[in-house]
Formats: sequence, C-alpha cells, structure tokens
Amino acid sequence: MLDRDQLLTIADQYGTPTYVYSESVILERIDRLRFHLEGLPLQLLYAMKANHAVPVMETMRDKGLGIDAVSPAELLLALRLGFKPERILFSANNMTDEEMRMAHEAGVILNVGELSRLEKLGKEFPGSSVCVRLNPQIGAGHHEHVITAGEKSKFGIPVEHIDRIVDVAQRYDLRIRGLHQHIGSGILDTETLWKAISVILDASRSFDTLDFINVGGGLGIPYRPEETGLDMELFESLIVSPLKSFIASHPSKNLSIWFEPGRYFVAESGVLLTQVNTIKHSTQRIFAGTDSGMNHLIRPAMYGAYHEVRNLTHPDGPVATYDIVGNICESADYFARDREVAHLTEGDIVGVMNAGAYGISMASTYNMRSLPAEVWVDVNNKATEVRKRKTAKDIVDEALSSGN
Ligand code: LLP
Repeated sequence: MLDRDQLLTIADQYGTPTYVYSESVILERIDRLRFHLEGLPLQLLYAMKANHAVPVMETMRDKGLGIDAVSPAELLLALRLGFKPERILFSANNMTDEEMRMAHEAGVILNVGELSRLEKLGKEFPGSSVCVRLNPQIGAGHHEHVITAGEKSKFGIPVEHIDRIVDVAQRYDLRIRGLHQHIGSGILDTETLWKAISVILDASRSFDTLDFINVGGGLGIPYRPEETGLDMELFESLIVSPLKSFIASHPSKNLSIWFEPGRYFVAESGVLLTQVNTIKHSTQRIFAGTDSGMNHLIRPAMYGAYHEVRNLTHPDGPVATYDIVGNICESADYFARDREVAHLTEGDIVGVMNAGAYGISMASTYNMRSLPAEVWVDVNNKATEVRKRKTAKDIVDEALSSGN
C-alpha cells in the first residue's frame, strides 16, 4: 500500500480531492487470485465498471486479462486500449438493437440475459455464437442493492427456462458457447457462492457446445478492521477443487472457467485524499467537514458502506469520535459516522481507504462540483496525474456551450 509520506506528497503536489491508485497492489491481487486458481483452465476478465482509469486498464491488459464491458463506451475503451475482441464479454443490461449490432460487428462475445434479446440476436444474426447469462436463483452480496441473482433480480434468464434457451438456439442455429452468472458483489460467503456455481455447472450439462463457463465476479475484500477478507483456503477447497473435478468429467473438450472480478483487483489499490477544512462542534457531535463528498465516493451514502478513514497529517494524536462529512447539500453526504480517528484539525489531509473500486466510476458532478483528480503510482513509485480537476470556470463554460 502507498505509505503516508507518499500520500502527503501527492496531496501537496496535486491538491485535494484526489484519488490515488497503486499499481503494485493491483499486480499483487491479480497474482494472488491466479495462484489460488492454479490448475484450472482459466481466463480472468476484469469488470471495468469498478474503475476504468486508463493505467488500471493497461495493467489488466498487460497481465493478460480480458474485459467484462457493460456499455458501448466501456466496450469502445477496451477495444481502443487493445484488448482482443475474443477476450471481451459484452454484458449490457437491457441491450438495445444498436448495442447488439455494435458488439457483433466488433467481434466481441455477446452476453445475453433476456430471452427476447436472444430471439432478436437469432433473427438478425442466425448461426452466430453467444454467451447466455443465467439467474441461478441464489444471490449474495454486501448489501441488498448489489445482489444480482435470485427471484427479485432483473438479471439473467431464470435457470428454470433452459428449455426455452435451447429452443431459441435451435430455431436460429445459435451456438451457445458460454454460460454466465454473476450473483452479486462484495461476497465473503464462499458457501453461497459455491451453491450458485453448482447450479450453473448442473445447467451446463444441457449444452454440448460450450467453450467456457463464466462464474462471475463478486469476490469481497476486507473493508472493516475486524474483517479478514475471503478465506482463500476455503475458497480453494469449496470452489476450486470441485471446479477442477467438474472440468475433468465434462463432455465438452477445452472447456475453461472464467472469473470476472472488479473489486478484488482494484479496491485496495485506491485512496481518496481529501482535506478537512471545517471542524464543527455541534451539541452532540463533532463534524469534520472535507472538500470532497458523496459525489466522489457514494458507497457510504448508498450502501452504508464502511471505508477506513485515516488522519494522514497527524496520525498519532489522541483519538476522538467524528462524523466525517462532505461538502454536498445532502444529509447522506458522509464518509464515516461515529468514527474514531486521530484528533483532526482544519487543514489535515485524510485518506479514505480501499476506495479503488466503485469510487471514481460512480462519481458525479452533483452540485456542479468537479470530479476529483486521479493519480497513478506505478511499480517504481512514479506518480502521474491521469485526471485533472476542473475549475468552476471550466464547468460553467461546458454548461453554457453544450446548449449551442
Ligand atoms: N460481472 C458483472 C456482470 C457485474 O455486474 C459486476 C458488478 C461484476 C462482474 C464485478 O463485481 P465485483 O467483482 O466488483 O464485485 N457499486 C457496488 C458494486 C456493484 C457491482 C455491480 N456489478 C459497490 O460499490 O459495492
């Protein structure tokens, strides 16, 4: 992880608010996952919705990962950065005809999660290959908003409808070359993950043209001090070993297993640096007001998510309990509530930790504030600014020019 001096130097040089990402951490997480999956015929994809900063993407590409892309711009960015089309899965939700054509022309793998879209694909491109997203009816995740399978979920074709998938495929001579599922995000419960995987493995026996089974992403990371993250030994024994036996017994030759994590690779690589500029002693609480907010990291407001907050400037002071809040005009605008942090004074730089996934990629310009800057720190500890903050004038110029 980036050390305190380095983070303070970056805050000094580039100002705040700024996201900082460490290449070393990303490389370590990729190697770590590969190590635990060793022995499987494996393809790793990166779910770029977690963080599409260009150097993050380049790191994934150079490590041989493919991409899970969910929108035309994600797809285009992956192609422009040189990811091979055969390693890009296009999983747009509520895919339009235009998006379907674009992905087909680009030669990437379409991942279809609705029977009606499968039918439209068959009509327009009979004889083509496709991956089908199933809903195994088992979901998991750190919050109900991020559970993406089960009865209430809009994602995937219910596993009960396999006959209908087979029927559409036969009518249009579609080759089902992949099965996919993604049951949720921030999963630390290996058993539930395995239960869902075993559903898709069973389902795979109805298809004899498969090249791969994509079991999704969703691997959790430790956010809270008492959390230890995924138990990788359990992961190996509960998931990886049975997957190996399954592959050995499956009739399809050259079947590979795909995983497509986002968070696992990048969450711990990122820190949001922000400056405390207002300390307010209210009747009941102490508020530490910063120059960032929910517009830059919405996870606490949206999911009640926990992010460690460190006083980087004065790490050794006596601890006090704060509400660390942003500068946005909403009461959900906080990074941490009732949180013990080393004594904060106005001017201190704080680090909001583990913010590399779903930080900048979910950020907005609400209240007409700029996105934060982004700084990439490579394996040689060289820092490069990859996004600059905009000035108020830039933002206003844009607002005035877009109407013309
Ligand atoms: N594959 C698909 C089809 C997905 O929809 C997602 C995430 C992933 C892979 C990667 O999931 P991961 O490995 O990162 O858990 N904004 C939420 C997370 C939403 C995830 C949506 N889909 C958060 O900040 O917790």
